[in-house]
Amino acid sequence: VSNYINDNEVLDRIIRTRHSVRRHRDEVPERKLIEEVIEAGRLAPYAGLANHGTDDFRHFFVIRNGSEWADQLVDIIKESIRDKLEKYEKSGTENPRMKNMLDAYNKTITNGPPIRNAPWIVIVAERRGFPPREWKSLAHVLQNMWLKAVALGLSFQLFSSVIDSEDNKRLSDMLGLPAGEYSYDACLIGYPQEPQLPSVRNVPRVSVKWLE
Ligand SMILES: Cc1cc2nc3c(=O)[nH]c(=O)nc-3n(C[C@H](O)[C@H](O)[C@H](O)COP(=O)(O)O)c2cc1C
Repeated sequence: VSNYINDNEVLDRIIRTRHSVRRHRDEVPERKLIEEVIEAGRLAPYAGLANHGTDDFRHFFVIRNGSEWADQLVDIIKESIRDKLEKYEKSGTENPRMKNMLDAYNKTITNGPPIRNAPWIVIVAERRGFPPREWKSLAHVLQNMWLKAVALGLSFQLFSSVIDSEDNKRLSDMLGLPAGEYSYDACLIGYPQEPQLPSVRNVPRVSVKWLE
């Protein structure tokens, strides 16, 4: 029993310590650590019925920032976001809640996605199913990886612009997967500039209704 109490405390600490880390040190975590993070993602749930009897519904790609692969990825993302923005502009962008994201899109087209000096980019591919549940699976994968990264003292940042390229054939070609068959998500991993500490979040205020 005492072991379970310990597990509970450790889990609480990891959940409270999980934050988006956007400032990474130059130091490169060794491959073994990235493999451990990926293993946590591999163990995340998947849409069982849609993938029954298959063993290739999830793939991981580890890209070294600064490599030609990373340059290619940045170029693909810029292209995909340029196309998306064009479509949005045609169909209207009056909704004020779109503004932040549209600004970010414009910045990405000019400067590229904000990967800065994060040493590792990990892309996750999950096979699209019927009905579509792959994005939900990807969120589970990324969350498991995030918590594991915290436990290993690594920095972790979601890298959502890769999602905007999931219908770009150049991305699936680069990764060697069939076009249109997988959805994608990604993260950046390194070491945090500042130590990660447990903290509580102020918003949203706790809102729980028990309907008994
Ligand atoms: C669906 C989703 C996409 C996100 N995409 C990004 C991203 O591309 N880059 C980034 O730095 N943070 C991204 N975030 C992180 C959020 O900005 C962050 O979780 C939120 O501000 C709360 O901060 P915390 O993660 O430190 O608790 C994303 C979060 C979610 C849930």
